Amino acid sequence: MRIVVGVGGGIAAYKACSLVRKFTETGHDVRVIPTESALQFVGKATFEALSGNPVNTGVFADVPEVPHVRLGQEADLVVIAPATADLMARAAMGRADDLLTATLLTARCPVLFAPAMHTEMWLHPATVANVRTLRSHGAIVAEPASGRLTGADTGPGRLPEAEEIFALASLLLERADAIPRDLEGRRVVVSAGGTREPLDPVRFLGNRSSGKQGYALARLAAQRGAHVTLVAGNTVGLDTPAAVDLVQVTTAEQMRVAVDKHAAGADAVIMAAAVADFRPVHVAAAKIKKGAGEPNSIELIKTDDILSGLVQARRDGRLGAAAIVGFAAETGDENGDVLTYARAKLKRKGCDLLIVNAVGEGRAFEVDHNDGWLLGADGTEQALDHGSKALLASRVLDALGPLLR
Ligand code: CTP
Repeated sequence: MRIVVGVGGGIAAYKACSLVRKFTETGHDVRVIPTESALQFVGKATFEALSGNPVNTGVFADVPEVPHVRLGQEADLVVIAPATADLMARAAMGRADDLLTATLLTARCPVLFAPAMHTEMWLHPATVANVRTLRSHGAIVAEPASGRLTGADTGPGRLPEAEEIFALASLLLERADAIPRDLEGRRVVVSAGGTREPLDPVRFLGNRSSGKQGYALARLAAQRGAHVTLVAGNTVGLDTPAAVDLVQVTTAEQMRVAVDKHAAGADAVIMAAAVADFRPVHVAAAKIKKGAGEPNSIELIKTDDILSGLVQARRDGRLGAAAIVGFAAETGDENGDVLTYARAKLKRKGCDLLIVNAVGEGRAFEVDHNDGWLLGADGTEQALDHGSKALLASRVLDALGPLLR
């Protein structure tokens, strides 16, 4: 695919280098178009070497090639990272005073702005209005990350990590309409990753969940406008998604407490976590040793089912009207196939949507791709085609929309 990476003049311009690299490594043809001020931060030679293509900022280079029209027309995706306040202001006004803004005017493909600026600039009514204008023109303006900015100050305005911009961009290449602002004003709780149940200070019972599907859901819900709380168990060291409140937990019981707390007043709860069904009855205070007194079995007790608890709380009027979404990882066996088990689980759990993944043989766990079925309490069943976990997340959020009260 042909991707234009536009780079604005901010300190985060250095992160555009990793982004360009990710695109070229995944086989895309990348044209980098920096603004004149972006070149104060990263040299033209760096972008040329990383993209393998010539780099210009103005409209008067290579004039016979008409780059100010052609690059936009031919692009499959335009990603602006970092999108500074000034660049977004010029884009919102439809200015065409350099090669990048001219390209933005001629592009008819998805356009993703990844903003980076100081919090005051991001929250200024002028920027807020420009973001609204760009979105009304069909562009996707990503929520910036919160955290340390260039100085000692913190707040929203940080450029999301290259990995995260890459994930959003890749999703737009898979599905151009995957990031609408349909969850604005909604509160969504997502659980992700696997819980760990301690046996002693060094050992635990755990599972193979990576957290990737839950993180993809949290990231996308935030980018679709929701206020997201991500309750995360153990993951494979994933970056916290931009604009998401992260609550870190370890055990099933800690996850239950955190999910219940944040579910109060939420519009939706998505239980993507792999929660332990059992925990050891006894947790040794000191490391269990071989030799005299060594255990030959582990006595287990059931943990609370968080998902069923939420459904019960909603029935009892203790939860409000939150939509409740569950996940099921099934292998099927001689007594039933994956879908048969999933239909029974949907009934048993009583949630509104159940996403079913067939697991085993390198499927679903730890990998970046997923597929399955989406079962609704109203009897609807939709096959989810094989694709990225971000794509599956977008289908789940599409199905969630009509369930929100
Ligand atoms: N879940 C939960 N609390 C638990 C166990 C599971 O909330 N203690 C949630 C998971 O987050 C997931 C759904 O329930 O959304 C399905 O989990 P699964 O383990 O497949 O369901 P079980 O009822 O444990 O069924 P099985 O007998 O197949 O293990």
